[in-house]
Amino acid sequence: MGNVINFAHRGSSKICPENTMAAFKKGLEQGATGIETDVQLSKDGRMVLIHDETLDRTTSGTGWVKDHTLEELKHLDAGSKFDPVFQGEQIPLLDELLELTKESGTIINIELKNGTVMYEGLEEKVIELVRAYHMSERVIISSFNHYSLSYCKKLAPEIRTGILYMEGLYEPWEYAKTLQADALHAYHRAVLPEFVAKAKSSGKAYHPFTVNDCEEMERLLQAGVDGIITDYPDRLAALLAAK
Ligand code: G3P
Ligand code: CA
Repeated sequence: MGNVINFAHRGSSKICPENTMAAFKKGLEQGATGIETDVQLSKDGRMVLIHDETLDRTTSGTGWVKDHTLEELKHLDAGSKFDPVFQGEQIPLLDELLELTKESGTIINIELKNGTVMYEGLEEKVIELVRAYHMSERVIISSFNHYSLSYCKKLAPEIRTGILYMEGLYEPWEYAKTLQADALHAYHRAVLPEFVAKAKSSGKAYHPFTVNDCEEMERLLQAGVDGIITDYPDRLAALLAAK
């Protein structure tokens, strides 16, 4: 189990404001070997890391992310709503996360948030930046938009893709072949040991999300998953260290 990737979901998002540099740094401190994040485009086409399509839940702003320029987004407070001690945390650019991790072995799982809002050119921009950082081997692009994943693979066969899905996908390892995807980013309850074995024999990795309970982490580790996406990278790091 030494190679199981410990993905900090939106960074260490239970003790820091999600998708901020504070959360990413804390995740790494806690033993995460991967970072999961969500990317969208600002009005002026910059790649910003934020989960919701709107600003209201996590920042001092309101309205759609896509309707604000980078300069406007950078003036927002992305920390205080979580806890006033994080006042001044900003919405990061994808560039900032890649800069932070470029010298490490950290795996970066970039989720393209292009389901509700269709961001034209998002795939090209993400791939261009990843290549510029020479991080193709350490990035997994995931999305619930499987057309987008298929397009990414055509643009950049060297970058891994992960199919996000909730449940009910029949033989997802077979489906992954049709998309030339590399990994299954499945809702964790949809992952059974026999599925993991079948995926492995098809050369597909399983990275279930979002697993916060230690017993469930243990069940998935025993099933042989290749990584786990969690809000609590410290819990998973402790389980892995005890193996
Ligand atoms: O990557 C797994 C997970 O992040 C997908 O759901 O809504 O947390 O982005 P969500
Ligand atoms: Ca996500």
